Amino acid sequence: MHQSPKSDDSTNLQKQIRQLRAFLEASTKLTSTFDLKILMSDILSTAVEVLEVENSSLWLLEVETGELVIDISVREIEEENLQYRLKLGEGIAGKVAQTGEPLVFQSSEGNMSRAMLCIPLKARPIQGLDEDTETNIVGVIEMIHRENQQFSSEDVELIQAFANLAAVAINNQRLFEDVEDALYTVRTLADAIDIKDPITYGHSRRVTELTLAIYDEMEGIPSERRYLELASLLHDVGKIGIREEVLMKPGSLTPEEFEHIQEHPAIGYHLLKRHRFLQKIVPSVLYNQERYDGKGYPKGLKGDEIPLSARIIAVADAFDAMTNDRPYRKAMGIQEALDEIVGNSGTQFDPKVVGAFLRALEKGKVKPSRREGEMYYVEKLDE
Ligand SMILES: [Fe+2]
Repeated sequence: MHQSPKSDDSTNLQKQIRQLRAFLEASTKLTSTFDLKILMSDILSTAVEVLEVENSSLWLLEVETGELVIDISVREIEEENLQYRLKLGEGIAGKVAQTGEPLVFQSSEGNMSRAMLCIPLKARPIQGLDEDTETNIVGVIEMIHRENQQFSSEDVELIQAFANLAAVAINNQRLFEDVEDALYTVRTLADAIDIKDPITYGHSRRVTELTLAIYDEMEGIPSERRYLELASLLHDVGKIGIREEVLMKPGSLTPEEFEHIQEHPAIGYHLLKRHRFLQKIVPSVLYNQERYDGKGYPKGLKGDEIPLSARIIAVADAFDAMTNDRPYRKAMGIQEALDEIVGNSGTQFDPKVVGAFLRALEKGKVKPSRREGEMYYVEKLDE
């Protein structure tokens, strides 16, 4: 039966609305799960359903080998066609991954001909890590149409949108993993800083334990917590640039030496600012010696002008410094150090941060104790 153009338009419109709805549903899942495999399966299955194609596969680029590996296939692939692994430039998916350009082609097997579409997944380069590459191909989505069906230009556009969605998910996952990797490296670096000054060995780790306990008590944003961890571990990184005889001087410092030691936040800033990936933590490293009343250094920032992370580190840093031996004085008792923190609330320290520190102590989230001369704040599960 002949269909009028009007009814064609209406069918098309309905189809487009259905596709758009499916796309929106798939995109909202991006924020609801961190499990990449589930997310990818959902994205591919939705694409297969709305486009009414036969099958879809996701190839991911394996970092170690630089080869494409099949990660997910919506429907099982027939045994004889099974090829899990492709080098760059090999096969259609390999060519698409190499050139970064989508490809539509006819695949013929016997007297059966099917349209296939291959779309590259391009992730955004990670700042500071992928400076040399403009775009990162992280994989390829392959769509195989039903027999005698063709991909329209609208279909290609829609699949491209699904591919972009998948690339965002992969990108998020990579960022998450990279921050985890950075944390591991930074923990090692923090140990190196502390080893330079054996008297304060363990200081950066302990300050980090206190800082995180205070942040949790202040109900900080969970996604920012890892940056705060990085910042506390590196808050003294600038001490690498301070002369050893000044750092280790047993007596009081001369004005020149005092000025020299005050340079450490700025040295830390210069060390970290070059690494774009660590830029988020630069203000915490630069401003953790500022005072709430504006009498600190290096800028004399006041109150909320000082980033919250730096205000938290300031309290944790002072408490740990006071309760441990320093070249120029013996450690204070825990209560004495606490009195000192409370006594300087509103002048040196942010009262909100001091309040959170006291609450964390009350609730037992922080338990200052001295074992074999070293301070401990947070009970370890394995202890
Ligand atoms: Fe410190």
